[in-house]
Amino acid sequence: MAEFESAAAKYLGVRHAIAVTSGREALALILQGLRLSPGSAVVVPAFTYHAVPAAVRDLGLRPVFADVDPRTFNLSPESLEECLGRHPETRLVLVTHTFGVQAPVAVLRDLCQKKGIPIGEDRAHEFLRGNQGNLIGVAGFHSLETSKPLSALGGGIAVTDDPDLADRMRRMVGAGRERAVEATRALVRQVFQALITWPPVFALSAYPAARACALVGRDLEDRRVDPARPVLGPTRRRLHGLHAAVGLAALDRLDSENEARIHLAGLLDDLLEPRVLRQRFERRDALWMFTLLPGDRDRLAFHLLRAGIDVKRDLLCDCSRLFGSDLPMPNAASVARRALHLPFHPWLGEADIRRMAEATNRLW
Ligand SMILES: Cc1ncc(COP(=O)(O)O)c(C=O)c1O
Repeated sequence: MAEFESAAAKYLGVRHAIAVTSGREALALILQGLRLSPGSAVVVPAFTYHAVPAAVRDLGLRPVFADVDPRTFNLSPESLEECLGRHPETRLVLVTHTFGVQAPVAVLRDLCQKKGIPIGEDRAHEFLRGNQGNLIGVAGFHSLETSKPLSALGGGIAVTDDPDLADRMRRMVGAGRERAVEATRALVRQVFQALITWPPVFALSAYPAARACALVGRDLEDRRVDPARPVLGPTRRRLHGLHAAVGLAALDRLDSENEARIHLAGLLDDLLEPRVLRQRFERRDALWMFTLLPGDRDRLAFHLLRAGIDVKRDLLCDCSRLFGSDLPMPNAASVARRALHLPFHPWLGEADIRRMAEATNRLW
């Protein structure tokens, strides 16, 4: 475990890394390590994964929402400024690099510095060498779940340069042996997910099922979430050694996989026609997902599935609505309704990208 944590810290260019059982537990570790007083507000981007505001809420803090930029899906500086004005009790701002697109860190940092509010980074969708231009706010966290850029078949990692915060976080992490049954169940679930998404198995199992569902107007996955459901365990637990071994092996391949993500995203972007609306990104971004913004998502999803292209939707949602925010967040609502993800991973060949671009241009 110590070897994995120090290799991950070295890779990311941070001083301290602490591995726990999931990304949301790593976020909880940071929130507890910062000793925010009960009821403090934490700014969360409105378009995000539901477990983020839920984890904030589960710890007795209050998630408040700022809208996102409709092109990049990242926290909008204007909306953040307005949100901080409405919520002077804010003690932390969470910045997400949505789907691997870097947030406008310099502007956000200036804004928060002026108000003396620290930034925490949600880096669930990326794992970049030397942090590649990212800010490290007071702390950040990564998810090591199976589909993420660095998979340890589950897990999460909290990172910081602050030795006192790291020390407090380390002391809060339990040994975790007492919950071996739960850990084994989580591992079996992630191994199953890895197996079912392995292309030869996927092509013969999940894809035909998704396509059949689309043909009868159904979604294979029901991604409705219950915002009232707690997402955290009673204590933060150390990642199991088995995951650490998988994570260590995965770190060896990460440079080439991140490079492939950058290259393939650029190629797909070049091949798609300008009328095909998509998330805006920079050529240095190692995308986790490649996201389209169609006007009629169901129609496009149906036709792409029929053409053999396995699209996904509803990975993130408008959490402001889900968690009963006082103000509507029109950009988050619109992106959540329209975002459609093409299959995207570093093992795709250029021929796959060309086929995907041709089908998308034709069916748009
Ligand atoms: C933006 C974002 N933050 C946090 C998380 C939580 O990570 P985990 O599922 O490892 O708890 C996710 C998971 O997908 C996510 O997409």
